Amino acid sequence: MEVEKLRKEETLAMRKRLIGQSCRLFYSSDPVKIVRARGQYLFDENGMQYLDCISNVHHVGHCHPSITKAAAAQMDLLNTNTRFLHDNIVMYADRLAATLPDKLCVFYFVNSGSEANDLALRLAQQYTQHEDVIVLDHAYHGHLMSLIDISPYKFRKLAGQKEWVHVAPLPDIYRGIYKENNPDPGKAYADTVKDLIEEVHRKGRKISAFFAESLPSVGGQIILPQGYSAKVAEYVHAAGGVFVADEVQTGFGRVGSHFWAFQLQGEDFCPDIVTMGKPMGNGHPLACVATTAEIAGAFTANGVEYFNTFGGNPVSCAIGLAVLDVIEKEDLRGNAVRVGAHLKGLSTELQSRHDIIGDVRGVGLFVGIELVTNREERTPATKTAAYVVKRLKEEYRICVSTDGPWDNILKFKPPMCFRMKDAEHVVQSIDHILTDIKAKDLKLEKEDI
Ligand SMILES: Cc1ncc(COP(=O)(O)O)c(C=O)c1O
Repeated sequence: MEVEKLRKEETLAMRKRLIGQSCRLFYSSDPVKIVRARGQYLFDENGMQYLDCISNVHHVGHCHPSITKAAAAQMDLLNTNTRFLHDNIVMYADRLAATLPDKLCVFYFVNSGSEANDLALRLAQQYTQHEDVIVLDHAYHGHLMSLIDISPYKFRKLAGQKEWVHVAPLPDIYRGIYKENNPDPGKAYADTVKDLIEEVHRKGRKISAFFAESLPSVGGQIILPQGYSAKVAEYVHAAGGVFVADEVQTGFGRVGSHFWAFQLQGEDFCPDIVTMGKPMGNGHPLACVATTAEIAGAFTANGVEYFNTFGGNPVSCAIGLAVLDVIEKEDLRGNAVRVGAHLKGLSTELQSRHDIIGDVRGVGLFVGIELVTNREERTPATKTAAYVVKRLKEEYRICVSTDGPWDNILKFKPPMCFRMKDAEHVVQSIDHILTDIKAKDLKLEKEDI
């Protein structure tokens, strides 16, 4: 058992008193106090084990010994800012370059996904000398003011849409304007971006960037239809803009078959800027922007130094290097392919027995199970999704959460060391809960749960 510094109730009371209440907790009505973790498992103050299906940040597994060792060794030796010459930053940039298409060959290291996206905006605007940005509906790109402005998921609840921001339909073939029966949804959705660009031009404005996650996460674990990104890039380039791929959630092999999720769109597609974060440092704040020599050149040409105190320091880069080593040595991409396919297969089998599962989608260890009250109308089963999440935690000690505009999608983005038996345990547990809901004829959508 862990020795607690504070009793759980004391921690909760202090948190209420001292921490801004807009910083919300998971399971806010009965939060879990986690005191240690290993691999894909979390342990609470009583030593109770939870299976973690949501910590995509702890990419190679919680507290991986190789990462801890690399961090401690570098911390013991040196940690400076990037104005001193040091091997780690260049060796790390070189390793990242090897995972990317040749054209993405210049790197800026920062401390969070938000910082990366904010810098991407600056790079795009500086390079194109245009201001306007196209984003996908329901997108989230970070918490800085510049990113709230380009995140419909946030700005719709706040000050609203700025005149330089334009929202394209989310290419969601399950619930969007073009569905799976469309002969070419990739082209159909890309053409909505073309229409939007024309509308922007009619207003006398110009596009600096099309900004999108390679697999929209908050939007609902969406897999972009084939051909979409290449076509959008063609339209955006013709308008003088650049394509920014936000890989903050999806990079570093989560999709298994490829290192970057944008590569799922085929070899003829390459973004102009890629932003990365969450999994990069396995929990250490490490993020990055990769771009082309031309875009970086335009940024340099303004004559203003870009200085980032912590970004790319020797400890961060030692950790980044260790993460890449573990992904390779432990074949975590191969694991994502195998375990992800098993999780998806079992979930699809579950769908055949439970009408409430409207859709199962995903690639690698990025999987979503969409719950609906009516398969024809695809009505979101939001309250049932919340109920399933609560029971998974309370009865089965499994941490899962929901995503999507209606919070009706059970999302799985576990550490990449997730095993076959973990996938089986999760799906069996969901099966028990859904069977119980049916047996008791619970009317969850009508109840205040
Ligand atoms: C797609 C995406 N981009 C950017 C961010 C911002 O990253 P950070 O929280 O590290 O600032 C997030 C965070 O959730 C994200 O999901």
